[in-house]
Amino acid sequence: MRVAGRLAADVLDMIGEHVVPGITTDELDRICHQHITEKQGAIPAPLNYRGFPKSICTSVNHVVCHGIPGDRTLKSGDAINIDITVIKDGFHGDTSRMFFVGKPAIQAERLSAVAFESMWLGIEQIAPGKRLGDIGEAIQKNVEKNRFSVVREYCGHGIGRVFHEDPQVLHYGKAGTGLELQAGMTMTVEPMVNAGKRHVRLLPDGWTVVTKDHKLSAQWEHTVLITDSGYEVLTLGADDR
Ligand code: MF3
Ligand code: CO
Ligand code: CO
Repeated sequence: MRVAGRLAADVLDMIGEHVVPGITTDELDRICHQHITEKQGAIPAPLNYRGFPKSICTSVNHVVCHGIPGDRTLKSGDAINIDITVIKDGFHGDTSRMFFVGKPAIQAERLSAVAFESMWLGIEQIAPGKRLGDIGEAIQKNVEKNRFSVVREYCGHGIGRVFHEDPQVLHYGKAGTGLELQAGMTMTVEPMVNAGKRHVRLLPDGWTVVTKDHKLSAQWEHTVLITDSGYEVLTLGADDR
């Protein structure tokens, strides 16, 4: 899991410099696919996962998650979440970050910062004996304190040999409730934070999730191991390890 997590983070480190005005999300997908398969000898987990047609998810502006790479050209001011999951030696590493194209819009920057901070507040709750609700409450409180909203329909998840497994890691809830965490578990924390209301809509392509009010959404994701003393984040970027 450490190896898979590091490879997923390495893809995000690699793709950052390519997120520039004029590039299409298809080109980002192709660059990541090539890096994962040829440089890393790994498998891009999204490709053909339940019929998903591409190797990465690219969710631009009001797209909440699971955006499908296509011929859309990025322009200055766009905010994009790139979500990478790789399989290495049978194990999954899953991580996503926000990137800004050209000059960031102030509102998008603030939303992304709150999503990032909320993800970390959730992760910092993780230790043996703590409960899933401790993670959810920490995230929800911080998001709502900032007058943003938490998406309810999608959540973090157990991860290992299987991409998405139990438990569901909700990004809202009540401290002291839910499954008790145990050392050795691996799970993702990946809050989706909306600038407006929390409600989402699934587009007819069956994948792309957008905000109902078409306001911005932001997301960050790490894969985390629960250790005897607390947690270890398996998907830190090169600058953070
Ligand atoms: N990487 C996403 C997650 O964080 C799942 C993407 S599923 C896909 O769980 F099929 F859309 F790729
Ligand atoms: Co995930
Ligand atoms: Co992901």
